[in-house]
Amino acid sequence: MVLMQVIDNKRVLSSVITDWKEAGLKIGFVPTMGALHEGHLALVRKARTENDRVIVSIFVNPTQFNNPDDLKNYPRTLDSDLKKIEPIGADLVFAPSVGEMYPPGEDPEVPEINLGSLDQVMEASHRPGHFKGVMQVVYKLFKMVRPDSAYFGEKDFQQLAVIREMTKQINLPVAIIGCPTVRESNGLAMSSRNALLSVEQRIEAAKISRALFYVRDNWITSSPDELFQHAIAGIEKNGIMKVEYISIADAQTLEPVINRNGTNSIRVFAAVRLGSVRLIDNVEILNNNA
Ligand code: PAJ
Repeated sequence: MVLMQVIDNKRVLSSVITDWKEAGLKIGFVPTMGALHEGHLALVRKARTENDRVIVSIFVNPTQFNNPDDLKNYPRTLDSDLKKIEPIGADLVFAPSVGEMYPPGEDPEVPEINLGSLDQVMEASHRPGHFKGVMQVVYKLFKMVRPDSAYFGEKDFQQLAVIREMTKQINLPVAIIGCPTVRESNGLAMSSRNALLSVEQRIEAAKISRALFYVRDNWITSSPDELFQHAIAGIEKNGIMKVEYISIADAQTLEPVINRNGTNSIRVFAAVRLGSVRLIDNVEILNNNA
């Protein structure tokens, strides 16, 4: 059995990738910030079935955090992360330091992308600079890893759309593969930030997906306004959680749906605060493009 390599140096990484490329091997890449859970592992498993070599990166990227406390509190669990990935058969984990990714004095290299509406709604408007940081790190990682395919979760649907757009606009030769959201048995979308919640808070947080599934299940019979009110009331009932936004949006542009009959693919999105933790989730309502 070939043991999984763990590398923190980009020059060492590059030489491994060059060998793989020269051997004509197909490379699948799963970028993460660690604190891995079944949602991440589903991406690694899918990458494993579709590629000759699988690379997982683990890097808590400071440039995408707009809140210093969120960055400070973000869970970091490298040893247990490695134990979770190895049995799936990943070939390499790239876990660089901040200095390795962003050497002082180096050009920060943020790709010039016009994200249009993707940069104006939901996460973009509530977390200024967030997607700029995400694009910066994913672009850098793509240049280092040179993957054939890269795997992203629909849990962060707007991020997936942003990465697709970036890849298209700068013509990167990477297939972007979206993967369905993995949930706890109570419906709560798995997230590294769930590790910061108490048992009671995790039960409370299940109300988020319940509200989104309610919107989906009643889409035909209720008006969007009724569904909004119901979803907000369901999440904020008993005053423990606070809705930051709920949006019923076109799954392509992510702009709010105005004409429900004129839109082919619709999803409902939410961002919610629970204590100091911010949780996001989204659910497909309809998809006539599939
Ligand atoms: P992170 O939050 O660690 O997520 C890594 C990948 O796992 C993302 O593509 C995310 O959408 C996916 N993921 C997270 N929870 C999931 C779930 N419950 N089901 C399915 N997929 C899930 O997203 C990031 O890191 C960063 O922004 C990154 C892309 C690595 C850039 O720093």
